[in-house]
Amino acid sequence: MTQPREVTDIPNLADPATFAQGVPHDAFDTIRALPGLYWNPAPVGTHTGGFWAVTRPQDIVKIEADTVTFTSSQGGAFPLPLKRPVEFDFHLMTNDPPNHSRIRRAAARSFGPRIVAHFDGWVREIVVEVLDAACAKGQFDWVTDVAAIIPARVIARVVGTPPEKREYVVGLVLDLFRALAVTEDSGAGAREISKILYAFMDDLWRKKVLAPEEDMATVLGQCVERGELNAQECNAFLALLAIAGFETTHTMMGHAMRMILEDQGVQDATMDAVRDGRTLVAIDEFLRMITPAMDMARVATKPVDFNGTQIREGDMVQLFFIAANRDPMTFDEPHKFKLDRPNSAGHLAFGSGPHACMGANLAKLELRILFEELASRNIKLRLNGEPKRGWSMFVNQLTALPVAVVE
Ligand code: HEM
Repeated sequence: MTQPREVTDIPNLADPATFAQGVPHDAFDTIRALPGLYWNPAPVGTHTGGFWAVTRPQDIVKIEADTVTFTSSQGGAFPLPLKRPVEFDFHLMTNDPPNHSRIRRAAARSFGPRIVAHFDGWVREIVVEVLDAACAKGQFDWVTDVAAIIPARVIARVVGTPPEKREYVVGLVLDLFRALAVTEDSGAGAREISKILYAFMDDLWRKKVLAPEEDMATVLGQCVERGELNAQECNAFLALLAIAGFETTHTMMGHAMRMILEDQGVQDATMDAVRDGRTLVAIDEFLRMITPAMDMARVATKPVDFNGTQIREGDMVQLFFIAANRDPMTFDEPHKFKLDRPNSAGHLAFGSGPHACMGANLAKLELRILFEELASRNIKLRLNGEPKRGWSMFVNQLTALPVAVVE
């Protein structure tokens, strides 16, 4: 196959409207079964008028491992900016190795499983406090009162944001996601908000190096002191932690509860798993099915024959983790929630390769504690209205989940 090809009955994967009522799993099933890669036209937000939709796990892993041919330097997600902003030079997600490896090393140790296990006590305090406050209302919105609050407080503490500024930072992060919607000049508003967030982080780590505490602003500020990071890289990294640590984890908590309340089988299987000490198996299955960050992007640095598809220099490849996680060759009955999979952790919800998620251990810890506290407090909820989806082809957003406590 040499030419970009259009298949007419597949909806436009570049349009958030396609994801407004739900993830277009039928379309992904069709694309995954096609030979080669599927070309999705996208006049805005790409360099060559569209992107190649990559839907098979082995193709995604291959592309993410080859950072020489498939760069992150033009942007890690659709839509790509018209002109590469200078901030991309300092940003973890928009650098390739070896520069990416240097920036990432600065914080990698802080998110290892052994370090994160020590967070259990204070994360549990946050979870209990948030659950108690929400359940005391009797009726509440799970997304705004629980799913958004837990990760926001956890990441604010990890970064080292003073308590009185936490709501402010969360507000900026939400504004940023809204501004990332596709426009003629993709990302213009987002860049303004990023600047405000970066300035906040700059002020934060400079204070922390004078009065060190146990948080990421201190760790990364000290890297600047030692010359391992420059100030702009430090600001961008702290801002990224606030963004990446919040949106995905809250999406995951929102959808997981929706699935539990919509399907008694999912609810029973999850609570059994928690009681049997298999909570992490359930978490991986939720992650596979939900895939909170549905996709990431790379751009080809040169023409390449990718298993028969002729990718041109400048072409964008859109890595649909959400489709790969439902690959029938990898997961038996992929559209079903099952806790007896031999490869339950073999999903791509956290990506792969050098850019694989740094916060996976932390995200799983938050979810494990949330499930454990729901079970041990015997909290029973029921749906109390219509769940609402967000407007995004990037994050599998759920914006509302009205619930009521069952007495
Ligand atoms: C359920 C929750 C989460 C999901 C589904 C998720 C998913 C992802 C995905 C798909 C990527 C891109 C990987 C790639 O390009 O291959 C990523 C990158 C990243 N995530 Fe997460 N994430 C979650 C939570 C977190 C948390 C809690 C943090 C921070 C504390 C975090 C920090 C990061 C960072 C720093 C990167 C960039 C890594 C790099 O470019 O080297 N994530 N995440």
